[in-house]
Amino acid sequence: MTTTLITGANKGLGYETARRLVAAGHTVYVGSRDAERGRRAAEQLGARHVLIDVTDDASVAAAAAAVEADGGLDVLVNNAGIEERRPDGTVYTPAEVTAEQMRTTFETNVFGVVRVLHAFLPLLRRSAAPVVVNVSSGLGSLAIGTTEGTPVYAYPGVAYPASKAAVNRLTVQYAKAFPEMRINAVEPGYTRTDLNFNTGTQTVEEGAEIIVRMAQVAPDGPTGGFFTAQGPLPW
Ligand SMILES: NC(=O)c1ccc[n+]([C@@H]2O[C@H](COP(=O)([O-])OP(=O)(O)OC[C@H]3O[C@@H](n4cnc5c(N)ncnc54)[C@H](OP(=O)(O)O)[C@@H]3O)[C@@H](O)[C@H]2O)c1
Repeated sequence: MTTTLITGANKGLGYETARRLVAAGHTVYVGSRDAERGRRAAEQLGARHVLIDVTDDASVAAAAAAVEADGGLDVLVNNAGIEERRPDGTVYTPAEVTAEQMRTTFETNVFGVVRVLHAFLPLLRRSAAPVVVNVSSGLGSLAIGTTEGTPVYAYPGVAYPASKAAVNRLTVQYAKAFPEMRINAVEPGYTRTDLNFNTGTQTVEEGAEIIVRMAQVAPDGPTGGFFTAQGPLPW
């Protein structure tokens, strides 16, 4: 039996990933920072619920203790993420971005990943087949971001892509440090969710595909990579 925690799984890509992994036979913890939203989602999915705010040390420690007491963890999907936008859904430009915006974005997207991984590491180390999936973004790719003509090149924001570039880099470092684990970064693609004011061009079913696949990666499968549903992406 594989036990899986997905952070930020009360909606969007995390919710769809939870739905698919429950169907695949995983015991799934729907992680959410709001108890009511999380409980409702878990109930709909036939999953468990754990309260976890990835920006809060005490919340993450309590979640790790609860999951440990219930039997441990095999798969961690670091999915919770934010992108600060103007109220009309447009992206802050480089001239507008402040250190405070960067801090807020990194607190969830980057420090959140580190905080959760650090807390759950002892549990993952006890698993026979530990897996970590970091939900990154093509916007974090320096290679694509410097390739003229691509949507990633055209994207004007600073905080969100920088945070995902950091996620990519820490994915590589963790994968090297823990070769007994499969640790990969994934790019779901531009998906219709609240994160982008539902402007994405893909469905959550399409977007969750690579997250679900990498959550089920075999022990001899890839680690330290960056993948879309169509294949590897350049860093
Ligand atoms: N949609 C896309 O096109 C796209 C593309 C590439 C990558 N991604 C990545 O995919 C992941 C999921 O995003 P999504 O598109 O599904 O967005 P979403 O629908 O807005 O879902 C984001 C989830 O993260 C949760 N979350 C935010 N801050 C949190 C915190 N501090 N602690 C715990 N949970 C928190 C949200 O909870 P609340 O409901 O409480 O806010 C929500 O459950 C993110 O990492 C995002 O960067 C998305």
